[in-house]
Amino acid sequence: MKIIVSENYQKLSEVAAEQFLKQLHRKKSSLFGLATGSSPVGMYEEIAKRKEDFSKAKSVNLDEYVSLSSSHPQSYARFMRENLFEKVNFDAKNTFIPCGTAPDLEKECARYDGILKKLGAIDLQILGLGHDGHIGFNEPGDIFEKDTHVVELQSTTIEANARFFSSKEEVPRRAITMGLRPIMNAKSILILVSGKSKAEIVKRAFFGPVTPKVPASILQLHPQVTLLVDREAYQFCES
Ligand code: GLP
Repeated sequence: MKIIVSENYQKLSEVAAEQFLKQLHRKKSSLFGLATGSSPVGMYEEIAKRKEDFSKAKSVNLDEYVSLSSSHPQSYARFMRENLFEKVNFDAKNTFIPCGTAPDLEKECARYDGILKKLGAIDLQILGLGHDGHIGFNEPGDIFEKDTHVVELQSTTIEANARFFSSKEEVPRRAITMGLRPIMNAKSILILVSGKSKAEIVKRAFFGPVTPKVPASILQLHPQVTLLVDREAYQFCES
């Protein structure tokens, strides 16, 4: 695993944007695995500032809340439109995200896996890290879940994400998430982690045992992972 420690969140976002655009320059038709949450917001801002051509690029998102329509202010579909898709020239028909309001969620999971299979390996997967070690919405459990599935969110995740909603009660209890197979099949992975509240989980995920109790620990087994952290998030790993 390559580790890049940035001075602060702004620097981290700039380095992340460089890596993202390097992939685009290497291959205009790259398939990007995209993440939501606060960690990649700065990176998307930096990307949006450059006049780059995304017309041939494709993207698949990690996850979506169950029951939020794509127009809901906290849906990940809307997050992606506001933070990236409306700012650069991605072709809407080349961007994919699970549908949180599908009437049959199992069918939706199968549909999304079909899309992932058809698109092939992700060229660059962007990830954030949950406080409990989740990636996408792959929450701690007894096994590493391989395929797209519906997940009951952990109380720590609901609490952490409550800041985006007007109250904790409004946070959906379930989500659809891509499984770990397409993430681990990605040609390269860039995981962004910032802030002191993540310092402990960074140590457990990347320097502790590989276990489904800490889903991100599986990334230790991937050959092309870059952990991009700021100093605060890396503080317990420096000795
Ligand atoms: C959310 C998302 C993840 C994200 C993580 C960390 O719940 N489902 O994709 O990476 O939690 O979020 P943040 O970057 O806001 O700390």
